[in-house]
Amino acid sequence: MTPPDRWVSMSIESLKALFRPELDELSAYRVPPAPPAVKLDANESPWPLPPEARARIAAVLHTSELHRYPDGRATKLRDALARGLGGSVNEYVLGAGSDELIALMATAMSRPRSGADHPVVVFPEPTFGMYGMTSRAHGWQPVGVPLDDDWDLDLGAMSATLERTKPNVVYYATPNNPTGNCFSRNKVENLVDAFPDSLHVIDEAYGPYSGESFATFAEERPHCALMGTLSKVGFAGIRVGWVRIHEALSHELEKVRQPFNLNTASQDIATLALTDLAPVLEEHITSIVTERERLATELERHEELQCFPSDANFLLVRVGGDVPELCAALLDREIAVRQFSSGDSRLRSCIRITIGTPQENQRLVEALRDILG
Ligand SMILES: Cc1ncc(COP(=O)(O)O)c(C=O)c1O
Repeated sequence: MTPPDRWVSMSIESLKALFRPELDELSAYRVPPAPPAVKLDANESPWPLPPEARARIAAVLHTSELHRYPDGRATKLRDALARGLGGSVNEYVLGAGSDELIALMATAMSRPRSGADHPVVVFPEPTFGMYGMTSRAHGWQPVGVPLDDDWDLDLGAMSATLERTKPNVVYYATPNNPTGNCFSRNKVENLVDAFPDSLHVIDEAYGPYSGESFATFAEERPHCALMGTLSKVGFAGIRVGWVRIHEALSHELEKVRQPFNLNTASQDIATLALTDLAPVLEEHITSIVTERERLATELERHEELQCFPSDANFLLVRVGGDVPELCAALLDREIAVRQFSSGDSRLRSCIRITIGTPQENQRLVEALRDILG
């Protein structure tokens, strides 16, 4: 049934006026419609699971009690996380990807400092877009601090900003997306120690590709949390992420978590990923790191391409020529890479290439040879 026109114009307008004003400045996250054959634009793992691993998953799902609500405490999964990554079970808060945890923190930790209108979140820029977007959608004031010319933290600028804005939360993605590098450890540690009144969240989404972690450092500091995800190591499709945070704070975050946010299948598969299937993940990570170095060498053969050093599963590449033209030419050859039309102006001349399988990378190398000569 089609509603009468007068209802549409009246109610849509009056209802739209009820949406948060911040949404006027935001756009929905855009996912390209049909992925091309070679998908190197989303920092996923290119490796499908081998048949034996799939069989293990099928066996577990076969006995899952899908007619029941999931385990709201995700007991087995949190147990696997604590065993695998350290800490106590109660330090882990789980979400449908780290995206949900960013939203969870934005919901729970949103009391403005006394005298301020809005809670503040600080992050170095360019970085993962959801820190800014999600915080803004929750009424926070996001403050980005430009990275230096080596894409490292600008310690002076970060310190001055933290001093001035007194943020509730500070995010550091290390390795950082989209630049690919780890930040200097001593700079991160320096900031965390100098500003104990903020929650410093170290996002280690790409940590498995750098082999570095702040786990030991964070363990001794209740104002330092670690965020992780399975999305970058072969399980983007199940949407499982976690934040490891002091028990007193996880207790508060748990109050705003939807009780059944992680479905049964995701919990079961993630538990397997962290236990029985861990060797398969490790094998894939090793192959991606090897391919990263090989691909960087191949790309550097072209005068117009400059690869920035990467500790992640992707390469940020500066392009001498026209970026949209190059991306369109790659797409014509069924290869998707990421370009940046908004945000930090230094990225306009760059593309981000997720490391694929050796075959996919070879296809990219040949396509570039074809396009660039
Ligand atoms: C630094 C960083 N953190 C977190 C995420 C999101 O991870 P998830 O898939 O767990 O929501 C991404 C995704 O690109 C990312 O680049």
